[in-house]
Amino acid sequence: MIKVESLEYKYKDGTKALKNVNIDLDKGNIIGIIGSNGSGKSTLFLNILGILRPSKGTIKYNNIPLKYDKKSLRNYRKEVTMVFQDPEKQLFYSRVYDDIAFALRNLNVSEDEIRKKVELILDRVKAMDLKEKPTHFLSYGQKKRVTIGGAMVVDSNVILLDEPTSGLDPAMSEEVMSIIKDLSNEKKLVVSSHDMDFIYEVCDYVYIISKGEILGEGIPEEIFLKSKLLKDAGLDKPWLVKIHEYLGIPLVKNENELLKNKLIKESI
Ligand SMILES: Nc1ncnc2c1ncn2[C@@H]1O[C@H](COP(=O)(O)OP(=O)(O)OP(=O)(O)O)[C@@H](O)[C@H]1O
Ligand SMILES: [Mg+2]
Repeated sequence: MIKVESLEYKYKDGTKALKNVNIDLDKGNIIGIIGSNGSGKSTLFLNILGILRPSKGTIKYNNIPLKYDKKSLRNYRKEVTMVFQDPEKQLFYSRVYDDIAFALRNLNVSEDEIRKKVELILDRVKAMDLKEKPTHFLSYGQKKRVTIGGAMVVDSNVILLDEPTSGLDPAMSEEVMSIIKDLSNEKKLVVSSHDMDFIYEVCDYVYIISKGEILGEGIPEEIFLKSKLLKDAGLDKPWLVKIHEYLGIPLVKNENELLKNKLIKESI
């Protein structure tokens, strides 16, 4: 799968956005990349997708270093797709249907096949009612859902989701969370966020990035207990970890588990 080795990235104005970053996406199935604003999450994703080219270091897919010619990148992006942080940067077509169909049309899939696939995807991201809508009329949350659909439609092996829940209301965040959990049965997902509750619940392995460097990594149940590390990275703890620490109740993964936990019920 994907390995990031000794990655450095320097923007044209001299900003060193990534320094000696090492990441192995085999360590989990839903990998979280957490870090405060400006820590380098989006720059990392753009390097993994091959839109930005490392100043130093390598991105490897199935142990082969990425090649940056048009044909290689085109093939790579059948395997690895991305949902951009800003949906405005991802929606190119005037109609929702055409926007999701775009990647398939590029791959010369028949219109009949395209219609079936697009409808399947629209159903999965609960956006069937938006099918004929002009993309510029969509609300921000609707745009986010459509871009998630666009990244799903090519059946890639990996989807990078850069801040998939930012700007969404709680109900929409829940929906995106359930789409992500559902997708993880078929694909590898990499999710960046500063929503610690979300990352804690969905991810099975987490990297902490701060000022372009990886400060720590591990499974959520361990990494989120490391107070100093999180503080150094400017991050907060998930609320479930906080109540585990403050009230001494067992560490659970989500609200449902908390409500069902017998030990907790008995202690209340
Ligand atoms: N095009 C650019 N030119 C110069 N510097 C840039 C450019 N894009 C990003 N940067 C800088 O690179 C660093 C990392 O930015 P990046 O957008 O990767 O952070 P991020 O972790 O995604 O932040 P956020 O949580 O706000 O999305 C920041 O210091 C930012 O100012
Ligand atoms: Mg970002």
